[in-house]
Amino acid sequence: MDRIPEHVSIIMDGNGRWAAERGRERTFGHQEGAKSVRAVIEGCIREGVKYLSLYAFSEENWNRPQQEVSFLMDLMAREVADEMEEMLENRIRFRVLGNRGRLDPVLNAAITNLEEATAGNDRLTLILFLSYSGKWDILQAVKRLAAAKSPEEIEAMQIGDFDSWLVTAGIPDPDLIIRTSGELRISNYLLWQGAYSEFYFTDVCWPDFRMEQLHQALEEYARRDRRYGKVK
Ligand code: FPP
Repeated sequence: MDRIPEHVSIIMDGNGRWAAERGRERTFGHQEGAKSVRAVIEGCIREGVKYLSLYAFSEENWNRPQQEVSFLMDLMAREVADEMEEMLENRIRFRVLGNRGRLDPVLNAAITNLEEATAGNDRLTLILFLSYSGKWDILQAVKRLAAAKSPEEIEAMQIGDFDSWLVTAGIPDPDLIIRTSGELRISNYLLWQGAYSEFYFTDVCWPDFRMEQLHQALEEYARRDRRYGKVK
């Protein structure tokens, strides 16, 4: 393909509705959604995408029924434990960004372990946003910045200087943000980092979003004309 985005980010939505349409529990949708995660990772490696980030669990998702939250956390823990070898084989670097203090300590330790084991990999960086929200990210950045810098230093800051205080420090902004399941919202995702992202919305629910659907999104991206507010 002509123009491959360096960073693809996905709001994986519609697992629950997909399951309900089939008369199944919401959790069945999440399980099938995990298969889409694997397919999309493989697709990104094939297409030459360097960063794939996934909105796996938002700060707001903590308000779901306890049983669903536990199921999702167990699913993440299982995936993290199971995928270690595959990530090493495929030279995938794994990162988890978000309010990590809210995660279960056992899950957090498993994540740190996988992050450390894959830190030297560079074929694809896979980022899971867990317990993340864009407003939370901006606020944590402001708090750390205010504690570390003098008012004069803050006054002298340029817009680009703020990037390194966000949890995504060092990661390029997403070129393409995909949202599945027909919802047309940003839902408190990468509010700062997505300032100039291209958006791709599809009616397909996340469990049905596989390699072919990814390819279609990338084709659409290649046709977009990114001007960043300038004229050609
Ligand atoms: C959105 O569907 C999905 C989530 C909130 C969870 C995303 C989790 C997975 C895809 C599971 C596996 C993840 C990894 C990283 C292994 P929804 O529940 O909001 O669906 P609805 O809008 O139809 O209710």
